[in-house]
Amino acid sequence: MEIVKLKGYEEMSQKSSELVIKTIQEIDNPVLGLATGSTPEGMYGELIKAYRKNNVSFQNVTTFNLDEYVGLSGEDSNSYRYYMNEKLFHAVDIPIEHAHVPNGDTKTPEKECAEYEKLIRDVGYADLQILGIGLNGHIGFNEPGTSFDSKTHTIELDESTRQANARFFNSLEEVPTQAITMGIDTIMKSNKILLLVSGEKKAEAVQKLVQGEITEEFPASILQQHTNVVIIGDEAALSKL
Ligand code: PGA
Repeated sequence: MEIVKLKGYEEMSQKSSELVIKTIQEIDNPVLGLATGSTPEGMYGELIKAYRKNNVSFQNVTTFNLDEYVGLSGEDSNSYRYYMNEKLFHAVDIPIEHAHVPNGDTKTPEKECAEYEKLIRDVGYADLQILGIGLNGHIGFNEPGTSFDSKTHTIELDESTRQANARFFNSLEEVPTQAITMGIDTIMKSNKILLLVSGEKKAEAVQKLVQGEITEEFPASILQQHTNVVIIGDEAALSKL
């Protein structure tokens, strides 16, 4: 694992956007795996700035987001489709049909999962997968106990995850209980993984990810077995290494 320690959130965002741009420039039809949450927001902002300066085009880029809540439509401001449209897709030149987010607003989530997995497999998986990490070690919405062999699937959200994400909703009750997520195996098939971490709150999770036992009880620990992982983090998040 390569670990890049930077001063703060802005530096992390800037550096990670540079890596994404490099990937887009080096590969003909790049496939990016994307994440939501607070951590990558700054990076998306930097990508938009670079696009506006004509430093990057998303015309040939295909994206797959990691996850989506079950039961929320793309028009719901708490859905990850909405987040991605607002934070990136609508601000750059990506053809929107190339920008995939699982459809959480479906009566047949199992079918949605199988189709999503097939779409990713058919393009040869992500060239670069962006990840964050949950306090409980989740990557995507793969909560503790998820099989390392998992493909795109539906999961029950951990109570701790619902509580962590309740800040975006009016109340905890409104936070969905299920999500669709790429599986651990799907994520591990990416050519390269870029994990972003910021803030002291994440320090313990980062330590377990890098130095802890590899166990399904802490899903991110599997990244120790991937041969091409870069962690870009700020001093606070990397302080326990
Ligand atoms: P965060 O979420 O970026 O909002 O901290 C990360 C995650 O839960 O995977």
